[in-house]
Amino acid sequence: MNQRILFLGPPGAGKGTQAERLAASHNLLHLSTGELLRAEVAAGSALGQEAEAVMARGELVSDSLVLAIVRARLACCSGGWLLDGFPRNLAQAEALQQLLEEIGQPIELVVLLALDDETLVQRLLSRGRADDNEAVIRNRLVVYRDQTEPLIAFYSAQGLLSSVEASGSVEAISERISALVG
Ligand code: AP5
Ligand code: MG
Repeated sequence: MNQRILFLGPPGAGKGTQAERLAASHNLLHLSTGELLRAEVAAGSALGQEAEAVMARGELVSDSLVLAIVRARLACCSGGWLLDGFPRNLAQAEALQQLLEEIGQPIELVVLLALDDETLVQRLLSRGRADDNEAVIRNRLVVYRDQTEPLIAFYSAQGLLSSVEASGSVEAISERISALVG
């Protein structure tokens, strides 16, 4: 069984939904940088105040801020984990690689959740989170294409990437993912 897993995919692909299920069934630590940042915003911390406007525009929060959040949580534990929404660009991927080398916990599997743009937009519009209005969703998609998509080649080159069709029922997608995780 793969125990150190990364979920990659555009906004609305179902990373959070599927990560929650896989973390529960396989007893993994689920780290969503988006959720962690929203918790900081809700708490009104200095970090949250810095992140709030950036998130409202659908841009990426600074690498150093996100890395600090992830480092603290990964370094603590020796069990399996599942990263959702991180890394988001090559700089974060390289920093993560270095951190994981330091703690001796290399990534075992990268799952790409693939879905067409129109379905993504429809899913997010019907959810209605603070950053789920059409203009911001479109910007999140642009940011994903520009900054996050290059990670597909980065992890493919390392032989770590598997793609999953992220359409259909939540249960059907979970089964596809479980088959990869083992
Ligand atoms: P983040 O929270 O990561 O948002 P995102 O990538 O835009 O993706 P979502 O969380 O919206 O979608 P998801 O793929 O998790 O899908 P979900 O399961 O929710 O990031 C938000 C912001 O934080 C960023 O824009 C950035 O500002 C900042 N940030 C976060 N990480 C960062 C980082 N590393 N560096 C810098 N900045 C960072 O599903 C979506 C909806 O679809 C839900 O309503 C769900 O119920 C529904 N759904 C799921 N599966 C299905 C299905 N099979 N059928 C029908 N509906 C479904
Ligand atoms: Mg999410």
